[in-house]
Amino acid sequence: MAYSHHVSKYVMIILPLLSGVLLVGISFAENGQKTVGNWLEIASPDDPVVIEVGKFAVEEHNKEANDTLKFVDVTKGDTQIVGGMNWRLAIEIENNSSIKNCQVFVYDQPWENVRKLVSFKIIE
Ligand SMILES: *[C@@H]1O[C@H](CO)[C@@H](O)[C@H](O)[C@H]1NC(C)=O
Ligand SMILES: *[C@@H]1O[C@H](CO)[C@@H](O)[C@H](O)[C@H]1NC(C)=O
Ligand SMILES: *[C@@H]1O[C@H](CO)[C@@H](O)[C@H](O)[C@H]1NC(C)=O
Repeated sequence: MAYSHHVSKYVMIILPLLSGVLLVGISFAENGQKTVGNWLEIASPDDPVVIEVGKFAVEEHNKEANDTLKFVDVTKGDTQIVGGMNWRLAIEIENNSSIKNCQVFVYDQPWENVRKLVSFKIIE
């Protein structure tokens, strides 16, 4: 008695959750071309997760180019889901006391532990 009560309560909570997930999954698939592949603006460029991507881009650039740029800030950016995640960020860097704007492109594939700098360019 107590058990079946417990189960029905469980089903009542879990079923709507499951169907919610399924619905999202289906609409995601149906709108695949619209949702996957679309660039979506990042609402909070100062989010620690975004800052981390910006810092990563500067560190990678420094390694690749033997440069000594300092990360300052992410000013804006967007992301794109592509069987992984593309990040396109506008960041500020400091190079020898002068502040410059850059556009960086980073690709993430967290489940493979992959994060790579695809491009890095200074926008004067
Ligand atoms: C990197 O830069 C430093 C100082 O600017 C220099 O001493 C060093 O030789 C450079 N290394 C490479 C691999 O270019
Ligand atoms: C940073 O400044 C140094 C010299 O001041 C220059 O050689 C280097 O190319 C600059 N890096 C970028 C990305 O502009
Ligand atoms: C950094 O900037 C100062 C002043 O603008 C300049 O004298 C110096 O040569 C620069 N350093 C490099 C490595 O370009």
